[in-house]
Amino acid sequence: MYSEKVMDHFSNPRNVGEIENASGVGTVGNAKCGDIMRMYLDIDDSGVIKDCKFKTFGCGAAVATSSMATELVMGKTVEEALKITNKAVMEALDGLPPAKIHCSLLAEEAIHSALWDYAEKNGMKIEGLTKPK
Ligand code: FES
Ligand code: FES
Repeated sequence: MYSEKVMDHFSNPRNVGEIENASGVGTVGNAKCGDIMRMYLDIDDSGVIKDCKFKTFGCGAAVATSSMATELVMGKTVEEALKITNKAVMEALDGLPPAKIHCSLLAEEAIHSALWDYAEKNGMKIEGLTKPK
């Protein structure tokens, strides 16, 4: 049912934890199931994501997508990170079962929420980023 990559990221999630004094923090909840994900971003002066950590209180698919999402945003610029969709995260994991697609939305929303927090803290506007719900 789950791809090898999903099982790998679920059993051995990358970048779990918190970043103290993070540039941006985003917490999102999944309305469908009540699972929660928090993402921390460390962004340098040139707008490049230097570090990314997450904590997910949720199902295995949410843990795996969060883990993969942190790997995808690392080293990206803010603008590039904004373009990472849940579809891209799922593709990087070789897919998810249909019933688990909503889980991958947590990762995309958490990235956006953390970027919004970063932009607000720095009084900037990020093109194409809308306020998270
Ligand atoms: Fe998220 Fe069951 S609904 S683990
Ligand atoms: Fe809720 Fe996966 S079942 S995020």
